[in-house]
Amino acid sequence: MRIVVLKERAAGEHRVALVPESVGQLVKAGVEMVVESGAGQAAGFPDAPYAAAGAALAGSANDALAGAHVVLKVQPPSLDEAGHLPSGALLISFLPASSAGDLLTQLANRNVTALGLERVPRITRAQSMDVLSSQATVAGYKAVLLGASTMPRLLPMMTTAAGSLTPGKAFVLGAGVAGLQAIATARRLGAVVSAFDVRPAVKEQVQSLGASFVAADAVGAGAEGQGGYARAQTEDEQARTQAALAGHIKDMDLVISTAAIPGKRAPVLITEPMVASMKPGSVIIDLAAETGGNCALTRAGETVITANGVTILGPVNLPATMPLHASQMLSRNILTLLRHLISKEGQLVISMDDEITGPMCLVHAGQIRSSS
Ligand code: NAI
Repeated sequence: MRIVVLKERAAGEHRVALVPESVGQLVKAGVEMVVESGAGQAAGFPDAPYAAAGAALAGSANDALAGAHVVLKVQPPSLDEAGHLPSGALLISFLPASSAGDLLTQLANRNVTALGLERVPRITRAQSMDVLSSQATVAGYKAVLLGASTMPRLLPMMTTAAGSLTPGKAFVLGAGVAGLQAIATARRLGAVVSAFDVRPAVKEQVQSLGASFVAADAVGAGAEGQGGYARAQTEDEQARTQAALAGHIKDMDLVISTAAIPGKRAPVLITEPMVASMKPGSVIIDLAAETGGNCALTRAGETVITANGVTILGPVNLPATMPLHASQMLSRNILTLLRHLISKEGQLVISMDDEITGPMCLVHAGQIRSSS
């Protein structure tokens, strides 16, 4: 079987789907590996370690794709790239709903089977394939670093010959995978950290990381929907949450917001009056920017500075800004997925009845299955 790793061409995407270590493990398992030259360069993995791991290097995407059974990418292929995928091949990459439509039609026309990485089911068995978790870990960490480097003050308490500095106050909204990592990172930097989430189960996790849980009154037992995710709040619930957070947020130096509802617009938790109540120099890092933002003033990919001196950052694709470890984790996720898909006899087994492959599959046998 021939597995191909393509170079990313999307602006700002520095990650690579497989790092040399994973390539070496597949080669040992008898897989023929082909890596497009330069695929790992931006992530800190030049061609030489791939060659040393036993991969053949291809000078162009078209050379790499010849005879491919499995094609690995991070970002969805462009329509042009999809048009060059070999008929019958399996594509594994992120395939968000926003890239559906024309791309999925193109893949179906090419008779390519496509698995969307963000659709790995969140079941215990698939935990080591869960790219959303691994990449959210990187995003949560980086969000705090971005905040710390944007703030005009230090985060830790310091007692120096030039006087004492009080610790900064950080508040994390949404304590899922990214939020919990943001709490841990802000604590490591010495901030006094508090957090909020609508799911009741989270309170204990927040406290175990040494942060306080605020606005517990706004948490309802019914806030948790399917698969451990939060369900969308009603307008009334959202208004009550906002009111509960308003008194707390005005004293914060750094706010990291990560609240998300799968497949829906992110909930607005920080209103314009709440931003207006914050101190000059305080910073909001809105990790939900790509799905509309948790702050009413967020603009995806931009920095907004309000009249009262609050800076709001809406970063997009933060994991790609730490491409070495983001790729290393992504690569381990994909390697585990490949091991799941390859039989002991070395054959690719794509079964729509499988509890992992089925939900991930967007295109199979020339048909678009589901893009919801
Ligand atoms: P996510 O990215 O969809 O959401 C982030 C956080 O925002 C969640 O904790 C959610 O409860 C919170 N949120 C949603 N609406 C909110 C609101 N109005 N106000 C405040 N917070 C709000 O979630 P993520 O981080 O991808 O995962 C969430 C949960 O999913 C995990 O904590 C876990 O329970 C489960 N999970 C299970 C896995 C497995 O079993 N393999 C793997 C990863 C996550």
